[in-house]
Amino acid sequence: MTGDWWQSGVVYQVYPRSFADGNGDGIGDLAGLTAHLDHIAGLGADAVWITPFQTSPQKDHGYDVSDYTDVDPLFGDRAGFTAMLGRAHALGLRVIIDIVPNHCSSEHPIFRQALAGDESARQRFHFTRTPNDWPSVFGPAWEPAGDGTWYLHLYAPEQPDWNWRDPRTAPFFDDVLRFWFDLGVDGMRVDVAYGLFKAPGLPPLPSDVTPSPGRLRSNPLACDQPETPEVYRRWREIADEYDPPRVLIGEVNLEPARAARYTGPERLHQAFAFGFVVAPWDARAWAAVGAELLEHPPVTWVAENHDVIRTPTRYGNPARARAALLTILGLPGAAYLYQGQEYGLPEVDVPAEDRQDPAWLRSGMSRDGCRVPLPWPEGFPAPPWLPAPDGWERHLDSPSLPLTRAAIALRRDLRPSPAGPVEWSVDGDDRLTARHPAFTLVVAMGAGPVPLPDGEVLISSDPLTADGLLPPDAAAWVRSAA
Ligand code: BGC
Repeated sequence: MTGDWWQSGVVYQVYPRSFADGNGDGIGDLAGLTAHLDHIAGLGADAVWITPFQTSPQKDHGYDVSDYTDVDPLFGDRAGFTAMLGRAHALGLRVIIDIVPNHCSSEHPIFRQALAGDESARQRFHFTRTPNDWPSVFGPAWEPAGDGTWYLHLYAPEQPDWNWRDPRTAPFFDDVLRFWFDLGVDGMRVDVAYGLFKAPGLPPLPSDVTPSPGRLRSNPLACDQPETPEVYRRWREIADEYDPPRVLIGEVNLEPARAARYTGPERLHQAFAFGFVVAPWDARAWAAVGAELLEHPPVTWVAENHDVIRTPTRYGNPARARAALLTILGLPGAAYLYQGQEYGLPEVDVPAEDRQDPAWLRSGMSRDGCRVPLPWPEGFPAPPWLPAPDGWERHLDSPSLPLTRAAIALRRDLRPSPAGPVEWSVDGDDRLTARHPAFTLVVAMGAGPVPLPDGEVLISSDPLTADGLLPPDAAAWVRSAA
């Protein structure tokens, strides 16, 4: 690959409680992850991104952190983390972890001090006697503190928002970054990276703004303030103090032109491109998403994560999910795969009584269906925290697995550049074509089979028809004859 590894690397996302269980309590942990790192290395991934395992009451499965520099006993301890890191590095995998700077846990010692009435600690959050009319992503945004005041939480009430206008907040997070970077962590995925600062004075919503439930970006006062991208100048300086420099990837859930303000040589290295997460199975929609994102390289392609419906279900069938996998692996830029995507796992309709997502409990939106623990050949040692449906282990034989390995291996050999150019086209049969210097990606998104351009078919997500056509719901990479 050309450029730095992160510009065109393949990163495998691990949601620890649902990955692999090392101690038999039904919840995945760091020991389980360590034992299965060879599976991730065997796929050909360059790095693993681990969602929060830090100390947390688990009200949002770790995105409510009560100690930013320790490991929750549910997942292990610091020694277990160091062992995992050592094993990953020995296998050639870099390790990216989550940092959650927008909010902490209501059990965080500083928030507990604030709740107990310490005025100085209160300044570090958003306490008021006159709450405004903002909603949170998971329901109402203000929680009574019990003494006539209220505090702001843009997610669950157990996730109070830090006040980034308090001068103690930025140095606090500098120390968190340094702690993990000193340990040898290769990078950070920044949770709600476009949050942090709120509009000064927390004014009420303007009359023409109606935030949509579940979408932080639909409240322009609660996120994407001019001060926020500036935070990452400071973080980049810290990341660049290390050898090799550490990498910062932001969850910047804004339209690509706005998200681009958070990245660059003096800010975050990358921001996730969520275009394929929201686009329907439609050739024109995908071409538009791809072209728009590639205006802001290097792109970080992603189709699945722990917050969204898995692709076989979202796009309607497993063949489309394989085609989507070959698409994100076949475009210039980095690609993020979510655990289980290599097995083509579908979304699970978790019975209502078993659901555990706080978003489900507060707003009726459940992300549990993409968080069901992975099937392993040896099984989960105890009943998993979310029940797996009958026959879950049949996915171990999914054609997605050899496809993922083969596509990542080819991608390494073909060295697609980290940035474009990519020429997108869509024809009358809903055939999507993305031509770039390494090869041409074709996706058959209409009802019938489509012809492929002349050249060598390097890989396809399903076998070609007897007369050499790409069947519907399939993708292929073709090296042009010329
Ligand atoms: C994470 C979610 C989490 C939220 C609050 C998100 O963007 O990906 O899983 O609920 O941040 O921390």
